[in-house]
Amino acid sequence: MAAPVVDAEYLRQVDRARRALRALIASKGCAPIMLRLAWHDAGTYDVNTRTGGANGSIRYEEEYTHGSNAGLKIAIDLLEPIKAKHPKITYADLHQLAGVVAVEVTGGPTVEFIPGGRDSSVCPREGRLPDAKKGAPHLRDIFYRMGLTDKDIVALSGGHSLGKAHPERSGFDGAWTRDPLKFDNSYFLELPKGESEGLLKLPTDKALLDDPEFRRYVELYAKDEDVFFKDYAESHKKLSELGFTPR
Ligand code: HEM
Repeated sequence: MAAPVVDAEYLRQVDRARRALRALIASKGCAPIMLRLAWHDAGTYDVNTRTGGANGSIRYEEEYTHGSNAGLKIAIDLLEPIKAKHPKITYADLHQLAGVVAVEVTGGPTVEFIPGGRDSSVCPREGRLPDAKKGAPHLRDIFYRMGLTDKDIVALSGGHSLGKAHPERSGFDGAWTRDPLKFDNSYFLELPKGESEGLLKLPTDKALLDDPEFRRYVELYAKDEDVFFKDYAESHKKLSELGFTPR
């Protein structure tokens, strides 16, 4: 995708916001919710109608009150002082930059960030994000609608290397890995171990083991963290650019 044109002052503000995000995420330990915010803003994209996507629309009450976005108002509010200090930066870019920085500061791969995403005030209808209670066909329906692939589904699910589920937000409880503030391939190492370890496995996580095509990638990423980081960085970049309309 061609890089959009943003002026020098915009780039300066992106640089400064990146540093401010590193400090905020480190001091608050909020990398997981920042990654989830970036993903939920972007993951509404519909490749056929070219609606939704990484366009900042999740900042509106109409969208952050969707059931699947429970808790994300916390992340939206944490970003507000950074937006106020760097007013040129769009919400679309700020959310995606927060996701990229969250992965970086927790030890994950560097995800290339191309600034210039445009904001939209049009919120997608509820129900475009995946339902954790469902299986592989549902995951494919949802991610193919975004224009993403089987490999993207498995690599991006590795985002659950970070964070945990909160009963009052999703009805699920617990972390996927032993160190939910470290981005690594432990999600794929824990996945085949079953329930006994006290770690969380959503039905959609388990679907990655049951489906042979998905399982191929689970096994690859469990064996080789470098391959996971490389694929994750590519898939995250694609996710962060869904619906990208240059300014
Ligand atoms: C948390 C579902 C994909 C990143 C969660 C939670 C659920 C969920 C139910 C718990 C929310 C809560 O209670 O706070 C799913 C489903 C997915 C999916 C069904 C389909 C594959 C992804 C992707 C990413 C991601 C692609 C990022 C690349 C996260 C993170 C958290 C989280 C970082 C932890 C948030 C926190 O600790 O506050 N997800 N997710 N998820 N998800 Fe996903």
